[in-house]
Amino acid sequence: MKPARLIMTLFTAVALSMPLASAASAAPEASGHHHTLRAAAPKGFYIGSAVAGGGHHENQPYPDPFTSDRPYRKVLAAEFSSVSAENQMKWEYIHPERNRYNFGTADAIVRFAQQNRQVVRGHTLLWHSQNPEWLEKGQFTKDELRAILREHITTVVGRYAGKIQQWDVANEIFTDAGALRTADNIWIRELGPGIIADAFRWAHRADPRAKLFFNDYNVEGVNAKSDAYHALIKDLRAAGVPVHGFSAQGHLSLDYGFPDDLERNLKRFAALGLQTALTEVDVRMTLPASGVPTEAQLRQQADYYQRMLTACLNVSTCRSFTIWGFVDKYSWVPVFFQGQGAATVMWDDFSRKPAYHVLRSTLAERR
Ligand code: G3I
Repeated sequence: MKPARLIMTLFTAVALSMPLASAASAAPEASGHHHTLRAAAPKGFYIGSAVAGGGHHENQPYPDPFTSDRPYRKVLAAEFSSVSAENQMKWEYIHPERNRYNFGTADAIVRFAQQNRQVVRGHTLLWHSQNPEWLEKGQFTKDELRAILREHITTVVGRYAGKIQQWDVANEIFTDAGALRTADNIWIRELGPGIIADAFRWAHRADPRAKLFFNDYNVEGVNAKSDAYHALIKDLRAAGVPVHGFSAQGHLSLDYGFPDDLERNLKRFAALGLQTALTEVDVRMTLPASGVPTEAQLRQQADYYQRMLTACLNVSTCRSFTIWGFVDKYSWVPVFFQGQGAATVMWDDFSRKPAYHVLRSTLAERR
């Protein structure tokens, strides 16, 4: 741990009157007695984390977390019953050249999940971001592009057939105003909105058992964007397109209010016959000059986590709740939002924040 981080952690532990020994107890206890999130969870309810690696991690002064950090892997295995590839199944990683796939890390994640009795969420197949340059700048004809997407989905979904519980087939296809991203999403721009239905059909053919999702941020509440999803999914299902789920990412910030209508929103999607999920939960905050969150911030953060989990637990079709990383040192938040951070449920040494404890007790109450 970097000295500055260590000082921060020590300071925070004292400030919260948490004995530092609690850092040691963060190591996964032997199974049973609800000492971990997954042990506390009700039967059939999946509590997940993103698997850190790729993306922003590549510019950070530490080696790849998933492949190099053994304590990290231990906590990942002990605490969670579902894992999502943070970056490793995205196009730029898994399909770096037109005629070459790179399955190494994605395979390792799926293997890790099987060894630890975890399910996997696949992320993602049709998105505007993190596409390789060969694709974005390729000057392909429409027929070629269509064939490229079809081949990609068939290959990637087919490779993990039977091993992925939920796929984020289409990610972030609407703007906050509820308009399709026709400018920056290469697939929709070049091939029209009909390509979305095709993506779901191809994915379903490649793995009939995987549940196929739309996934986005800023769709926790009822708003223009979630309305757009609701209308689109209703139409697609009426047309027999294999869409099985709708998920809200759940990237919240203490600088904004909590979306009180989260449960109501999930329920209207459930009413369409869909599975629902929270897939990328974290709660960031503007940090004080010290860089250390105040007790009040930590309490409010725990409250946001708890309310998101409770909303999901209150919806019968919401059986999957995933956090976007569990330890602050690997979080994407400080990289993207200057002055913000502390968004996850564990300090850098894997000791547990109030948010962790409240998640675990909320799960245990529903067991
Ligand atoms: O591609 C550029 C490369 O050209 C450039 O040289 C390099 C230098 O900074 O950056 C590269 O971009 C990086 C990108 O991953 C692709 O590897 C970004 O810096 C990096 O910040 C980015 O991070 C990932 C981000 O998705 C990209 O959108 C994060 O690790 C990942 O946690 C994050 O995850 C997303 C979900 O997939 C979807 N929902 C939102 C969530 C948080 O942003």
